[in-house]
Amino acid sequence: MSLANKVVSIEVSGEIGLLLVDSPPVNALSHAVREGLLAGVADLNADPAVRVIVLACRGRTFCAGADITEFGKPKRDPSLQQAIAGLEASAKPLVAALHGTALGGGLEVALGCHFRVAVPTARMGLPEISLGIIPGAGGTQRLPRIIGPEKALELILSGKTITAAEALALGVIDAVLEGEPLEVGQAFARRILAEGLAATPVRERQDKIAATRLDPAAFEALAEKLTRGRGREAGPAAAVASVRRSFTQPIDDALAADSEVNAELIAGGQSRALRHLFFAEREAAKVSGLPAGVAPRPVARAAVIGAGTMGGGIAMSFAGAGVPVTLIDATQDALDRGLDRLAGNYAASVKRGSLSQAEMDKRMGLISGAVERSAAADCDLVVEAVFEDEALKKEIFAELERVCRPGTILASNTSALDVDAIAAALQRPEDFVGMHFFAPANVMKLLEVVRAADSGPEAIVTAMAVGRKIGKVPVVSGNCDGFIGNRMVAKRSAQVDLLLQKGAMPKDVDDALKAFGFPMGPLAINDMSGLDIGWSIRKRRGTPFPVADAICERGWFGQKTGQGYYRYAAGDRTPQPNPEVEQLILEVAARLGVERRPIGQAEMIERMLYPLINEGARILEEGVAQRASDIDLVWINGYGWPRWTGGPMFYADEVGLARIADRLETFAADTPGDPSLKPAPLLAELAGRGSTFAEWQKQRLAA
Ligand code: 3HC
Repeated sequence: MSLANKVVSIEVSGEIGLLLVDSPPVNALSHAVREGLLAGVADLNADPAVRVIVLACRGRTFCAGADITEFGKPKRDPSLQQAIAGLEASAKPLVAALHGTALGGGLEVALGCHFRVAVPTARMGLPEISLGIIPGAGGTQRLPRIIGPEKALELILSGKTITAAEALALGVIDAVLEGEPLEVGQAFARRILAEGLAATPVRERQDKIAATRLDPAAFEALAEKLTRGRGREAGPAAAVASVRRSFTQPIDDALAADSEVNAELIAGGQSRALRHLFFAEREAAKVSGLPAGVAPRPVARAAVIGAGTMGGGIAMSFAGAGVPVTLIDATQDALDRGLDRLAGNYAASVKRGSLSQAEMDKRMGLISGAVERSAAADCDLVVEAVFEDEALKKEIFAELERVCRPGTILASNTSALDVDAIAAALQRPEDFVGMHFFAPANVMKLLEVVRAADSGPEAIVTAMAVGRKIGKVPVVSGNCDGFIGNRMVAKRSAQVDLLLQKGAMPKDVDDALKAFGFPMGPLAINDMSGLDIGWSIRKRRGTPFPVADAICERGWFGQKTGQGYYRYAAGDRTPQPNPEVEQLILEVAARLGVERRPIGQAEMIERMLYPLINEGARILEEGVAQRASDIDLVWINGYGWPRWTGGPMFYADEVGLARIADRLETFAADTPGDPSLKPAPLLAELAGRGSTFAEWQKQRLAA
């Protein structure tokens, strides 16, 4: 073995030259790897003994893409395009042996090789779109030449990974072979030699793009369909234009254009925001204040107490990840209704084509029902999801402690109660934790893992691990009223009511946040979830919202009563303007002596977002959230905050904290009744010294 450089080595085994990347943890295509690939392929080409070359990676995966930490830094040659061009120009046939996840630049490297072989467990894809960029190191040019522009576009715009078997069926790879990656690569290399397989560089292939070049109508129709509703994102349109160049321009011109496009996208705010979220997700998995090496307990079987909408959705999440789950409710009737609802949800997915009948049957097979809590006896985790009644929850946990074996993690899905108060009634509070799911629980990705004062380290890491296993983005939250997300949302709700009093109508408010990028406005959402819920909480807390309360006093609770902020025709969920509510809003404003005025969209956005960011700063100060980026994940995954703006705290940094503090001072001055609008001490301090939440977080983590 000799080293091409410190992360790439070469070996010769008979007539086969081996080019090996060893750059943990994921063999990202850093400058050193790119340089090593070029040097290594040149050395093996110069060795007369070598007739065929295998490119493989050590460790857990083939290259997982370009090195994202290099983005935004000065470029260093060889670029990834140059490195791939060097591989493709190899005079000796070159086969890539894939294992783990060949993603983005990793798959592009493989596409630059003359052949691709994978182990059965390998997955591959071009996820660049989720980072706000395009597969600009040849993915948009070479993939269409192998599988056709339409199929390539689907993969690129979805960013999804596919299995080795799917890749083989599509023609992305040439073979799937069992064995270690290196053995598999060598086996295929021997086949190349034995059968004299022609090593045609992908760049020269025309067969798959010829038809689209002659008639691009199907491609254009698909592009239109796949980008519908994504006009705010910079990536999709750029990806379409780039794939289009694969059949309209010579490949070198197209590659040059791709480089320019990516340079622009990488420098832009959207990609910066999306990269921030990539690293935020990885950071969120790290829980502070736990002893080193604490491991999650295995969760092979789960139970959910409460077969309502929430409990059913949670059970579906477990079944979707292959975890057998028992749904438990007090009466057969409630249980049957829950199981029927759940089956109906699956059936609707099958009808829509998003789930196969076989998969539905498999998932339903993993869900059982029971009316006795003792059915949870052999479970490793029990999630309680009954209505918000502290006494009932305490009674449930007391029984669970009796029937479950020691070591079972007991979790509450409460969104409104004090988890310490629930834990106080437990014999083993160290096994208790909050697991706050978001509706619909089978769809929404956010999971707040709420740390009660006595939650043990294993309970916390098990909740985090199981959350990831069932496809959620778990974020740790301290115990406080509303935890991270709902505590912040309350600040927005107060402003929404004020905006309605001061001059806006429901549609203006919703349009403003939709213009910002939220998929739905807050009032349409409230109508959907039912206005009575918030009303009863406000009455309990003595925090009136004059407009919302006046609507509820009429018995208008949203979609379920046919009207709320909007009107709904029977069987139709489309919000229609509601003249009666508009009249009511005017009456409330008059009663309160508020002089209504026109409010511009920019001001509405500031008034709804800055107070919630301010509350985020308090949540950070108090240590309720571990990091500013955790708060961003909460809003992205639980509240529809547009990903490409990075979440509230990242967005605040982009706007500038001084601007946010300044506007909050203005809002506080004209709303004397709400002292929480004054800039939080942390926000004021960071704004004062021209700093950011990101900077604060970096210093905190370093300390
Ligand atoms: N660049 C730099 N660091 C990376 C990286 C990358 N492409 N991919 C992963 N890492 C880092 C992570 O930040 C993490 O670091 P940490 O331990 O300090 O937190 C470490 O590698 C391990 O990553 P994960 O915790 O995510 O490990 P998993 O085993 O759960 O997942 C993975 C592995 C599936 C490869 C996942 O890391 C992943 O999806 N990576 C990104 C893949 C990607 O987006 N590739 C495209 C990059 S853009 C590109 O190629 C542009 C080109 O087309 C021009």
